[in-house]
Amino acid sequence: MTSSIPTPPSIPFLGHAASIEREVPLRSFRLLSEQYGEIYELNILGRKLFVISSAQLMNDVSDDKKFYKNMSGPLLLVRNGVGDGLFTAYNEEPNWGIAHRLLMPAFGTASIRDMFPDMLDLASQLTLKWERFGPKHRIDPAEDFTRLTFDTIALCAMSYRLNSFYREGSHPFIQSMADFLVECNLRANRPGLLTSIMVQTNAKYEEDIKTMTELADEIIAERRRNPTDKKDLLNIMLFSKDPKTGESLSDINIRNNLLTFLIAGHETTSGLLTFALYYLIKSPEAMRKAHEEVDEILGDQQIQLTDISKLKYIDAILRETMRLSPTAPMRTVRPFEDITIGDGKYFVPKDYTVVINTIVAQRDPAVWGEDSDKFRPERMLDGKFEALPPNSWQPFGFGMRACIGRPFAWQEAIIALAALLQKFEFVLDDPSYELELKQSLTIKPAHFYVHALPREGKP
Ligand code: HEM
Repeated sequence: MTSSIPTPPSIPFLGHAASIEREVPLRSFRLLSEQYGEIYELNILGRKLFVISSAQLMNDVSDDKKFYKNMSGPLLLVRNGVGDGLFTAYNEEPNWGIAHRLLMPAFGTASIRDMFPDMLDLASQLTLKWERFGPKHRIDPAEDFTRLTFDTIALCAMSYRLNSFYREGSHPFIQSMADFLVECNLRANRPGLLTSIMVQTNAKYEEDIKTMTELADEIIAERRRNPTDKKDLLNIMLFSKDPKTGESLSDINIRNNLLTFLIAGHETTSGLLTFALYYLIKSPEAMRKAHEEVDEILGDQQIQLTDISKLKYIDAILRETMRLSPTAPMRTVRPFEDITIGDGKYFVPKDYTVVINTIVAQRDPAVWGEDSDKFRPERMLDGKFEALPPNSWQPFGFGMRACIGRPFAWQEAIIALAALLQKFEFVLDDPSYELELKQSLTIKPAHFYVHALPREGKP
């Protein structure tokens, strides 16, 4: 016997579109989860959604045989900019298969290890900047972590130096990308007729896509002008053939994937580092243990590749950060056929989209206990992470459409966090600051500023 699925009050035509906050939509989804429980139904301008937020339901829909990644809402609109790049391609689109097979090895452990020197180079630019600015300088970590991660993906994957640390403001790509993603989110909850008459907004949207595309085209043109035999991602896309079909990527698909990597490859990781810094400052005991570990493993020496696997507490900090604040906080799937989930309790017709509210599901007390809202890296240590129920920690998505860049992001984040902790103590600019969010497609702390103080007796 299936149970009925609750739904908040709605209004004709718009459905629940007006119930979703414009600036931080995630806040509305979380509040509704608190009010209606592990599953509720929404109708956004005719799109029928179930929003789920328990670990059990998240596990139930994590099955590539029964559910597929659904391209609708904001994600479908992101296709306006990046087309059939890996992130926004439909499962059945041949270009997804070709790019996936070609690029998976480039994101394997061995290739990522080769990127260590370039990752370290950029992490050192960041520590140098904070050192030179000194303890009085008010740092905007989200901004500088964006410089770091944007430059890192461009250098490691495309051997292209953006030199963001040598610019006053941010690279034009960054603002255009943020505005483009915000507008994708807004459009998804706005009637098409209204969007069609918003002439200025639409012109800006097109302009933002152009700004982003120009950078991708410039990177490709630069490579054609100055070829290299480096086996980086760009060369693989330009010159390799799919082992299964023998096909190469088309020029337009290369551009789409380049753009995809420039976007997906930095936005989430800079959010991860910013949240990690916030949680550490708010948890002096965790900060003390992190400093202790870095001192023990690195001492006064610059981090080496072989240190990475030894930094277990730093690893646990990042895992716990991704649990509490998964920077890609929701993903969507659809069943291939009508199906029931939750031990047969909930009926999901095949024309419904299931939105996985990861940020709530990863705080499910049934898995994480009554203190599930608390930042406690210890829950990720000593085999506890490996012993978690399946799919209860899922910030990188699931299955065939899971994040291809996970090992890249992880290595990059460990290097940066360890290098920063080796040198600095951190304090809040405003001691009373409590976490606020900003959201484009991903989330980051908003209005979060810190000071970096040199650690006494450290190099
Ligand atoms: C897919 C999260 C870093 C490239 C995904 C998905 C998630 C995710 C949740 C699945 C989305 C869905 O199912 O709709 C993250 C997080 C990161 C991160 C939290 C950092 C902390 C990266 C990096 C890259 C990258 C560094 C590239 C270097 C991609 C791509 C996909 C993807 C290309 C699409 C894969 C496919 O569908 O074949 N990511 N990501 N991500 N990510 Fe990441």
